[in-house]
Amino acid sequence: MSTKETALEIKTFGAPVLRQKAKPVIQVTEEHRDILSKMAGAMYESAGIGLAASQIGFNEAMIVADIGSGLYKFINPQIIKRQGSQENQEGCLSVPGVCIKIKRSRNVIVKAQDEYAKPVTVSAEGLLACVLQHEIDHLKGKLIVDYASFIDKIKIGKKLKELKKQSQDEKLPQPKTKSYRLQL
Ligand code: NI
Repeated sequence: MSTKETALEIKTFGAPVLRQKAKPVIQVTEEHRDILSKMAGAMYESAGIGLAASQIGFNEAMIVADIGSGLYKFINPQIIKRQGSQENQEGCLSVPGVCIKIKRSRNVIVKAQDEYAKPVTVSAEGLLACVLQHEIDHLKGKLIVDYASFIDKIKIGKKLKELKKQSQDEKLPQPKTKSYRLQL
């Protein structure tokens, strides 16, 4: 299998890498820039608005996001300030077919490094703040299903079982995901 094929395959629920804590990037190299651009490619290809490195199989602290106002590529992102709250129905490219209502901060300040290791600070609100919190969750091995209420769990139980089985059987065609409200 070529590098391109492996890199662009989005890992789905049941893949161990999605549950691992991402390693901090100590020294930013050409390889990290390459992974970030693959991540952006995979995100756009899947019509997502955010993606974490673990979702394409790299256990490193990197995320990308684009809510339509430009592409962000962040290395070692951290939330340094939060304010307010918002609630959205969130989907995830790694948990296709599942949507969970999640309460998050309305505003966040995120500190990170850009793809050339330059420190950056971004103040985000609304949708972008939601996406950044979702992607930073991925870096902790946390998924939308971890926010599921008791009722949600009943509703998504069967779907999760299927996804887990697929990820064990591997390489079944991925369900179409474009209809979900937020794909992160
Ligand atoms: Ni996600």
